[in-house]
This record gives sequence, C-alpha cells and structure tokens, in this order.
Amino acid sequence: MAKNWIITGGNGQLGRAFVEAVAASPDDVLLGAPDHAALDIADPEAVKRFFGELSETPSVVANAAAYTNVDGCESERELAYRVNAEAPELLARASRDAGAKFLHVSTDYVFPGDGTRPYRESDATGPLTVYGASKLEGECRVAEADAGAIVARTSWVFGHGKNFISAILGQVALRRSGEVSGPLAVVADQKGRPTYAVDLASALRDLEAAGASGLFHLSNDGEATWWDLARLCVDEAGAPELVVERTDTDASARPAPRPLYSVLDCSKARAHGVALRDWRDATRAYLHSPASPLAQGAG
Ligand SMILES: NC(=O)c1ccc[n+]([C@@H]2O[C@H](COP(=O)([O-])OP(=O)(O)OC[C@H]3O[C@@H](n4cnc5c(N)ncnc54)[C@H](OP(=O)(O)O)[C@@H]3O)[C@@H](O)[C@H]2O)c1
Repeated sequence: MAKNWIITGGNGQLGRAFVEAVAASPDDVLLGAPDHAALDIADPEAVKRFFGELSETPSVVANAAAYTNVDGCESERELAYRVNAEAPELLARASRDAGAKFLHVSTDYVFPGDGTRPYRESDATGPLTVYGASKLEGECRVAEADAGAIVARTSWVFGHGKNFISAILGQVALRRSGEVSGPLAVVADQKGRPTYAVDLASALRDLEAAGASGLFHLSNDGEATWWDLARLCVDEAGAPELVVERTDTDASARPAPRPLYSVLDCSKARAHGVALRDWRDATRAYLHSPASPLAQGAG
C-alpha cells in the first residue's frame, strides 16, 4: 500500500537520506520534507498550520530535525529544550491526530558513558550534557503523547553534510595542499558506533514496515573510537602515510563532556528483523557515494 511521508528537518544528514529513500521507493509518496526555514518545528502555530495545509493525509511523519550542536546546547539550553524536547511532542501529537505513524530519533548521549557492555534500551540513562538531557526529555514526551510512535536512539551519525568525517577529510586536504603540516590528532578513548544516515533511514523504514512501536537502538554494527574512524577515512582517502596521533578526551577541552563509552546494543531491533551492517562497510559506502566529501573534492 502506498504511504504518504512527511520528513521534518529535510535538509539535515538524516533528513536527506530519508528524502532520497522515499523518492526512490515506488510504494511511497513524499508529501513534504520542509527544512528549518520552511518549518520551525519548535513553533506551535507553524506546526499547526503545516499539518492543516497538507493536501493529503500523511501515513508516516519522520522527525529528522534536532538541535544537534552538542557544545552549542550548553549555552543555549532553552533553545535545546524547545527543539529537542517540546517540538517532538508537538509533532507526535499532530501526527497522532492526523492518524500518521510518528518516527523520532534520539541519541546515545542519553547515557553517562561508564558502561562496560553495550547499552540496552532498558538500561538506566544519565545524560552528561544539555543536549543529552533535552533529547531524553524529547523521548519521554513522544512516548507519552503517542504510544504507537517509534523512538530510535542512534550514534555518531555521518551523511550528506558536515560531520566528523568531513572534518577529518578537510584536514587531509589541508595537509595535501601544504597549508598545514604535521600529524592529525584524534581522540582515542571514546568508544561508540559510527552510523551512516542512509542505513539509519532504511532501518527506520523497515521498523515502521514491521509494525514496530516503542524505543529502539539503531546504529551500525561493531565498535570504534574516533581515532579508528579517522584512520579508516584517511586510508580510504589514499593518505596511508599521514600520521594520526591518539589523544584523549582530557586533552581536548570542550564545553560539553562526552561519554567515554556509548556503544548501543541493537539486539531489540535485530529481533524485529532489522540489523545494520558493520560501521567499516557503512563508512566505505559513504566515502564512495556521491554525497561523500571525497566525491566533492575533499581529502
Ligand atoms: N549527528 C549525530 O552524530 C547524531 C548522533 C546521535 C543522534 N543524532 C540524532 O539524529 C537525528 C538526525 O541528526 P542529523 O545528524 O541528521 O542532524 P543534522 O544534520 O544536524 O540535521 C538536523 C536538521 O534539523 C534542522 N533543525 C534544527 N532546528 C530546527 C527547527 N527548530 N525546526 C526545523 N528544523 C530544525 C537543522 O537545520 P539548520 O541546520 O538549518 O538549523 C538540520 O537541517 C537527530 O535527532 C539527532 O539528535 C545525531
């Protein structure tokens, strides 16, 4: 049966991946994918107007919009809560009232990072940051507003746009051009699961198609440090000679503390038949895709 999709935050990494997946599917219709300028999800009147003016009834609303600047959230607490906590509730209510399934995305940063095995959905949370706390409140508000919604925590997302990989490849390019010399230094004591936005969008679509609801963990498989991810990208960019030094979290003072260990256990999604490939394969697929910074001349 054809499904009518709305994707909020249509210009972000996940938003773009969703739009491409829906556009490529003969069974799906994209009713709208407003970017931030077209729809501020934190503006209740704008959300009401947007849903009121839809030409057709949506079947699925996927929220890919969020305030994702983890350090920025520390100094813009109110904005973080409006976008990451209050707005998802608004969207969940509007979707429920329209009879649509609501898909929402949260983060591994809801966890404190002192775990010794991958975090399950049922594990105690304990965000270290305003970003993590605002996203956690968003999860709770969505679950309360719409018990049929899917809320998926993910981690270390890369896709079309600015991200850790594009930053690393930018550094490679600067060294190749001679503008900068010396080794790269990358944090090697934080462990998580890098996740390709394309795989995440596909997994969310599969969970929706499977009739799932509730809280899930969705990340690419395996474990990595930021150093591991950087090393793979530098090698794939054809610069194996470039030295990538290991640093630790303490050496890089940032406004928001990062969890040292935020590997997500994705076995609940796997039990619903949804599993993402290994992060190394996903990273290579991204690097060799048209959206990759390599395809756009970086590295
Ligand atoms: N990126 C990660 O590493 C990561 C890790 C874990 C979880 N997540 C979660 O995964 C989801 C997708 O993240 P992503 O990586 O695709 O993020 P992204 O690339 O930063 O995209 C987020 C989009 O949301 C838009 N946006 C921000 N405030 C908005 C508002 N008030 N109204 C409408 N749109 C707004 C942004 O537009 P502007 O840029 O124009 O403001 C941006 O296009 C988010 O829920 C995020 O919290 C991400």
